[in-house]
Amino acid sequence: MTNSSIEKITINNSEAKSLDVNLQNIEQLKQIFPDIFSEGKIDFSALKAILGEAVDDSDERYNFTWNGKTKARQIAQTPSTGTLRPCKEESVNWDTTENLFIEGDNLEVLKLLQKSYHKKVKMIYIDPPYNTGNDFVYKDNFQNNIKNYLDITNQLDSSGNAKHTNTDTSGRYHSDWLNMIYPRIKLARNLLNDEGIIFISIDDKEQSNLRAICNEVFGEDNFIANFIWEKRTNRENRKVVSSRHDYVLCFAKNINATERALKQLPMNEKALSNYKNPDNDLRGEWKSDPATAQGGHGTKSQFYTLTAPNGKNHELESGRCWLYTKPVMEEAIKDGRIWFGREGNGVPRIKTYLHAKERGLTPETILFASEVGTNESAKNNLKKLFDGHAAFDTPKPVNLISTLMQMGLGDDDIILDFFAGSGTTAQSVYELNQVDNKTRKFILVQLPETTNAKSEASKLGYTTINQITKDRLKNVIKGITVTPGNKNDLGFKVLKLDETNIRPWDADFDNLEQILQLASESIKPDRSSEDVLYEIFLKYGYNLTTPVETEIVNGKQVFVVGAGALIVCLDDDITGEVVEGIAKLKTDLDPETTQVVFKDAGFADSNVKTNAIQILKQAGIEDVKSI
Ligand SMILES: C[S@@+](CC[C@H](N)C(=O)[O-])C[C@H]1O[C@@H](n2cnc3c(N)ncnc32)[C@H](O)[C@@H]1O
Repeated sequence: MTNSSIEKITINNSEAKSLDVNLQNIEQLKQIFPDIFSEGKIDFSALKAILGEAVDDSDERYNFTWNGKTKARQIAQTPSTGTLRPCKEESVNWDTTENLFIEGDNLEVLKLLQKSYHKKVKMIYIDPPYNTGNDFVYKDNFQNNIKNYLDITNQLDSSGNAKHTNTDTSGRYHSDWLNMIYPRIKLARNLLNDEGIIFISIDDKEQSNLRAICNEVFGEDNFIANFIWEKRTNRENRKVVSSRHDYVLCFAKNINATERALKQLPMNEKALSNYKNPDNDLRGEWKSDPATAQGGHGTKSQFYTLTAPNGKNHELESGRCWLYTKPVMEEAIKDGRIWFGREGNGVPRIKTYLHAKERGLTPETILFASEVGTNESAKNNLKKLFDGHAAFDTPKPVNLISTLMQMGLGDDDIILDFFAGSGTTAQSVYELNQVDNKTRKFILVQLPETTNAKSEASKLGYTTINQITKDRLKNVIKGITVTPGNKNDLGFKVLKLDETNIRPWDADFDNLEQILQLASESIKPDRSSEDVLYEIFLKYGYNLTTPVETEIVNGKQVFVVGAGALIVCLDDDITGEVVEGIAKLKTDLDPETTQVVFKDAGFADSNVKTNAIQILKQAGIEDVKSI
């Protein structure tokens, strides 16, 4: 910014685009290897020389590739020129909620969230199309993905169904799916914080490919588990083998960031029933565990003859050692922490108390139907919310996602689900928060995919899936009794993907003449100030639930964001008094720094525009821009 003029954000400014991931990576490379840059470009041979043996560029190296991978990688790196338009009418508790429901193609949405939610998400759960041959697999367009999105979501075939079903007769059946999922997973990883975890539902069709992709994007070392979920308990006799399970693939952003990448699960009734108190131990209920361990791991001091209080000697079984050394064991016996059975003659066992600090259940690789539900129970649960109708064909059980959240999500963290479907993840968040009075938050993304003309959803009057999701969320909220003091955030903000609000940012040569005629009006005529405000949030990296106060300053609408960190006025005929009013707001609120944004053509005259910069500077505001 110069001293005398307000900087106008143009198509070339970083503020006009979503985060350029490529540029950011190059910057990081510059920090680590400054000497591989020559005239701003990377000298690849210099990099290779520095990395030495670590580089494997032979044709026969181990790698995973498919038709279209390079393009899919480029697609992930191309910034979005779209925006997310707020839709208050379709939201619940707009002013207070911190939950988001975003309608649109998740690739564009993930790109748009890169600045505002970089490292802000603790857990991602996704349930992408499994590539069964019948499901809709989105085809990205490198040239103009937003226009492509608007076209795709309006495309129907002759029976009224969405196009782009990936049938297994398609020559590029697996490649099409990989090209869809790869850029999305790459972008999603950037949003996870350092302790972040991703869970992905999948079945045998693409499990091995998905794992190969995750190995590449997250690194093989960050693999946590490939959970087996028992999705049904009855046999499907029409099939050669009845498929009883799906997978939930789990990776960490950085498996070493915490001691336990996944938290232990709360004790369930079955586990609790193991704790009893037959000897009236004052420390409370306990269960007994073996007092021996594998001998190979023991030190010399763990091999001895143990004498029980009744004098009976206990020898070690072959290949075992005692868990404690002799003095520690004797102390534990004296303290009543070793159990020798009711008669005192039994094999010694160690008492584990219920009150002990760590008494959670370590997650196991099998998620049983009896604990987390099945496809059928999920459908029945959904039916209850839609007067007995199955509004969505393939929901996941609420308990499955709650169980994963208990492993991967903290009490007030954000979970992201960008293949939201009917919105099971949101229901899990609402219900878990209701039970334990916590403040987990969600971001859901769902495409306005057309419902099948013959589906129950269509009979219920739903033309697109996102409508079902919103109604499900509303019905869940209605069913929750608000209890005094419960912090549960029973709302969601709806935002919709669209082309940018700013005219010059998506100018192309076909409409250049018209653009030049309208050059003074930068904001598209059918867009509101709030549309633009949320675009500014995305471009400046503000969280989409940052509180916004609306002030009237000399008759003009002024948005005060984050207690004065950002002040935006997009009205016309801005006078010197309005600018002074904004300066006063900054002085009154006294935030550490303030950024101010005006509409470029909004000033009453050029003098006001020139003076604005000085007035604001006197109030300590250095960052003033116009759009
Ligand atoms: C298997 S369903 C998810 C079901 C969900 N877990 C539930 O419990 O209801 C996958 C969803 O992803 C959506 N989807 C597919 N491609 C998408 C895209 N490019 N952007 C956003 N959503 C997409 C589909 O419309 C579908 O509703």
